[in-house]
This record gives sequence, structure tokens and C-alpha cells, in this order.
Amino acid sequence: MTLMNKQLITTSEAQTIAVGKHLGEQAFDGAIITLNGDLGVGKTTITKGIALGLGIKNTVTSPTFTIMKQYDGRLRLTHIDAYRLNGIGFDGDIEDAIYQPGVAVIEWSEHIAQSIEHGLSIVMHRVGDTCTITLTYDHTYAAMVEGL
Ligand SMILES: Nc1ncnc2c1ncn2[C@@H]1O[C@H](COP(=O)(O)OP(=O)(O)OP(=O)(O)O)[C@@H](O)[C@H]1O
Ligand SMILES: [Mg+2]
Repeated sequence: MTLMNKQLITTSEAQTIAVGKHLGEQAFDGAIITLNGDLGVGKTTITKGIALGLGIKNTVTSPTFTIMKQYDGRLRLTHIDAYRLNGIGFDGDIEDAIYQPGVAVIEWSEHIAQSIEHGLSIVMHRVGDTCTITLTYDHTYAAMVEGL
């Protein structure tokens, strides 16, 4: 599988939301987006944009403590924060949630025991307001990323 890479730089929260919105608008049923990067880097912020792009009216808040939240839009959004899964043994339920219909967005996917295949991988790095967003993906996601 050939992987492609794209790097974007945003300099505000609003710009990162706009990147997410584009992804949400272009997202297809079954799309899986993994978000990794340090605490507070902007993972929930880009997810708010994805939700906007999916036409979700409800405000997306971090599922850090609930682990998973779902929202109904053009496609159902399953928003997972796996931060607290490190070493905890109920990854099986999470995997079921990831592969159900709709769009799955997984913050801290690196904390899930099994690797997630065929997802759009987004790694973020932020210094001050400058956020570097690196997308790695196969052809399945090319149309979604195109135009960013
Ligand atoms: N360019 C930028 N893009 C995104 N967020 C930014 C940017 N510049 C500053 N910020 C700020 O960084 C913070 C990002 O918080 P956010 O909750 O999205 O991080 P997170 O990666 O989800 O954190 P956690 O690891 O705790 O889940 C927000 O307060 C946001 O305003
Ligand atoms: Mg978060």
C-alpha cells in the first residue's frame, strides 16, 4: 500500500477548525481518522471542525473521561479519546466502535493496543499558535485530503 504525506501549518485555532471542516465535508462512510500529538496540541479542536463539516450542530467536547461520544450528522461521528486506555483491557469494545458505520475520530490512537489499519493518520505538533499538521494516508483518503 503506497502511503502519501501532506503537511499543513495553521497559526490559529480557527484555521485548524477549518482544516477539520474540510475533512468532515469530504469524509465518507467508514472513514477513520487517528489524531496523535502531545497533550493540548489541538486534537479536539480539529475534531470540532470535522463535526462542523459533517453538519453536526451539537458542540463537540473532549471525551477524555467518557472515552467515547457520538454525534449525528450527515454521517454519524464517533469521537474517541483513547488517552486513558493505556494498559486498560477493554480495547475490544473500542475496536467495535471504530469499525461501525459513520466516521470515527480517535485521539491518542497510539494508546490502543491493536494498530488501526487503513486510517487517515494525523499527527500534530504545536508551538504557541503555530500548529504543524502531518497527514499520512493511502489512496482511499486522497480525495478527502485533496484541496487542503
Ligand atoms: N493553530 C492552532 N491550532 C489548534 N489549536 C490551537 C492553535 N493555536 C492555539 N491553539 C490552542 O491549543 C489548544 C488545543 O486544545 P485541544 O483540546 O484541541 O487539544 P488536544 O490535543 O485535544 O488535547 P488533549 O491531549 O488533552 O486531548 C486550544 O486551547 C487552542 O485554542
Ligand atoms: Mg483532546
